[in-house]
Amino acid sequence: MKLDVLRPGWDQLQEEGIVNAEGARLFRSDGSSLLDAAGQFGVNAIGFGRKDIADVIAETIWKRSHLSPTLQCPERIALAEVLKQKWLHPNLDRVHFVNSGSEANEAAIRLARHYHYLRGKRTKWKIISREYSYHGTTMGALSMTTNAFRRKGLEPYLAEMPVVPSCYCAEGESENSVNKALDALRATIESHGADSIAAMIVEPIGASSSGATASPPEYWQEVEELCRQHDILLISDEVVTGFGRTGSRMGYDQAGFVPDIISMAKGLTGGYGALGAVSGRGEIFEVLEAGGLPLFYHTLGGNPPACAAAFENLKVIEEENLLDRVDDMGSRLGELLRPLRFQKGVKDVRGVGMLWAVEVEPLPGLDIKPSALIVKKGIEKGVFYWPGGVSEDHNIICFAPPFTVSEEDLIRMVVVLEDVISELYL
Ligand SMILES: Cc1ncc(COP(=O)(O)O)c(C=O)c1O
Repeated sequence: MKLDVLRPGWDQLQEEGIVNAEGARLFRSDGSSLLDAAGQFGVNAIGFGRKDIADVIAETIWKRSHLSPTLQCPERIALAEVLKQKWLHPNLDRVHFVNSGSEANEAAIRLARHYHYLRGKRTKWKIISREYSYHGTTMGALSMTTNAFRRKGLEPYLAEMPVVPSCYCAEGESENSVNKALDALRATIESHGADSIAAMIVEPIGASSSGATASPPEYWQEVEELCRQHDILLISDEVVTGFGRTGSRMGYDQAGFVPDIISMAKGLTGGYGALGAVSGRGEIFEVLEAGGLPLFYHTLGGNPPACAAAFENLKVIEEENLLDRVDDMGSRLGELLRPLRFQKGVKDVRGVGMLWAVEVEPLPGLDIKPSALIVKKGIEKGVFYWPGGVSEDHNIICFAPPFTVSEEDLIRMVVVLEDVISELYL
């Protein structure tokens, strides 16, 4: 039986798949290997193959396997505590565990909507989202997603949400872009009416749809202020940017704002378990509790072995000082990638911490997108790149390697990309 719909360019990997993984390397059954330049896109932080984590997970499966998400257990309690003590802004003092990033964003929608609804503000339901965004594959999260490729054909199921421009500033354009983006946000709030808007969702640094785009602090300060003025909750989607990926603990720390609600997944367990989470200001959760509306219920949400995996993953990040390593190796990755800007076919190179993107020019006359072709060629040369971009412009190669990646492996990832690009853009 075929497993899934094939992604263009990945077919060569599907026959036997990956049988083993170690550090930043994926192994096939014939012993050949691929470097994983994107850590399964922002999932793997501490590297593959940590046997000690697998042992803790096995012990938890043996002792408790799964318990209903409404029951407490040591793994959930310990993880919630470490999030509060070490990772999240003090305002974010409640957490609810789910299974994935999409579910975390669904839960964020519910939190925002029920918070207003139960306070008698029943017309507030819309969620402002930004251009070039992706928030998940479920219909609520997809309604807030502007990446047209991800929405294609599903539009009848999706709620109409207000969309504002994102604010990526190319060098020297900062003030102009910030003003334009903020004017558009003000106009959107005014035209829809603040009394119809429950929340605004943002990726603090763009993930694969926009490719590591950052906005200046003055933009974020004003976004935060406008949301507060209009009783609009600010949701930060930290599915990719959370847990050190950008060099700060959370993406909102890096960007310079404080959200009301955040969604998390990927780097939370580093791939050692399937877990997502939503966190928010205590007051928001208290309104839901007082109103008797339970937040969300997924039978397998907050799976104890996955919570144990997350706890251990975060412990490794702390104990091995991996945030410092993100700073060091992230700067090195930037140094290696920036010269590609001057290569034929390359439009832009940008990034922060261990989240980088190389944007290439379209390749006219081919029925495969540039990113898919680069992924295909990369696999042939032993590096697995992650394709990004939106819709017709699927022209971004994303870098998000494990924080533990060696300099030698980083060099190889960049050299092979340079090579592939020079073969394609003659
Ligand atoms: C920014 C962002 N939010 C949400 C999601 C959805 O997460 P998941 O695939 O775990 O459902 C993704 C997935 O790539 C993402 O990049």
